[in-house]
Amino acid sequence: MARPATRSVEELDQYLALVRAAGLDAPWSRPGPLIESKKTGVQPCVWRWAEIEPLLRRSSDFIAPGQGTERRILRLANPGVPERTSTHTLSVAVQYLLPGEVAPAHSHTPNALRFMMRGQGAYTTVEGDKCLMTPGDLVLTPTPMLHDHGNEGSEPVIWFDGLDSPIVRYLEALTQHRHPQERQQIGKVAGLSERYFGTAGLRPVGTRTGTRPQRLIHYRWQTAQAALLQLAQLEANPFDDVMMEYVDPSTGRSIFPTMACYVQLIRPKVHTRAHRQTSSAVYHVVRGAGCTVIDGVRYEWKEGDFFVVPPSARHEHANEGSDPALLFSLQDVPLLSALGLYREEE
Ligand SMILES: [Fe+2]
Ligand SMILES: [Fe+2]
Repeated sequence: MARPATRSVEELDQYLALVRAAGLDAPWSRPGPLIESKKTGVQPCVWRWAEIEPLLRRSSDFIAPGQGTERRILRLANPGVPERTSTHTLSVAVQYLLPGEVAPAHSHTPNALRFMMRGQGAYTTVEGDKCLMTPGDLVLTPTPMLHDHGNEGSEPVIWFDGLDSPIVRYLEALTQHRHPQERQQIGKVAGLSERYFGTAGLRPVGTRTGTRPQRLIHYRWQTAQAALLQLAQLEANPFDDVMMEYVDPSTGRSIFPTMACYVQLIRPKVHTRAHRQTSSAVYHVVRGAGCTVIDGVRYEWKEGDFFVVPPSARHEHANEGSDPALLFSLQDVPLLSALGLYREEE
């Protein structure tokens, strides 16, 4: 049975002053629950390619990679996130490289991915593996793999990077290292030979461990698109229409413990059913046009645009046109699932 307070307000104030002086907190002294819930600050928003592209192309007038910055990027800053990331857990930035430029080799604790958007001749080297990226390709740099980028083509290239850096930063585990050379050597990194020999259960003496055998880092657009079109012949999902997740073939799981990537087809005249998920998502429109209704507000999108669905926001997608719409998204589903917090409801 609750014990009634027997002391005066003055005595309580004196007591609370002693509690504070001892480095303690008495949450029952304030109205409301002992653990305050937090409403999301993440806002639904759309970033238009028509605005992004000219600003990105102008950025080369002001900054060059390797000279004052490691990456020439423009980040999608959600107005509701004080850290200026895209959601509270996901950071997405569009990157621009001119012909001949190199974004120098570095490594960092956040996991990163890049989705190629425009131009030919771009590459990302990941632990000695040089991946030539054509539009639609997805290249991963799992923590803490060394990576550098370059443009060996004759036109500027554009891709976007997705990072779990807000999570890593929140965990106070964010570190980054610049490699002494601008470009790492191709095929000379120990991790690569481990990938070659790892399947046989062997590794060359002296090589370091840590890189999983058969960890796929380069997902090609041709393969992803073909799989998606094949799935479209077989089945559809009422909430996402035709959708596939990129997985790590060595585990069958999401590509990162924090982030999952998806490619999605909204067929012409399809309007999906609304649902809400405790996860947050950043979408990129690879092709086509459509709209997403988020908490009752309609957001139109077309090729090149990005948009955010905040955690637990009710959302539905629609394609009112006659051409298919293709979406790529990154979502923090695996992180919430690992914590037992992922929920999806109609
Ligand atoms: Fe990086
Ligand atoms: Fe969804």
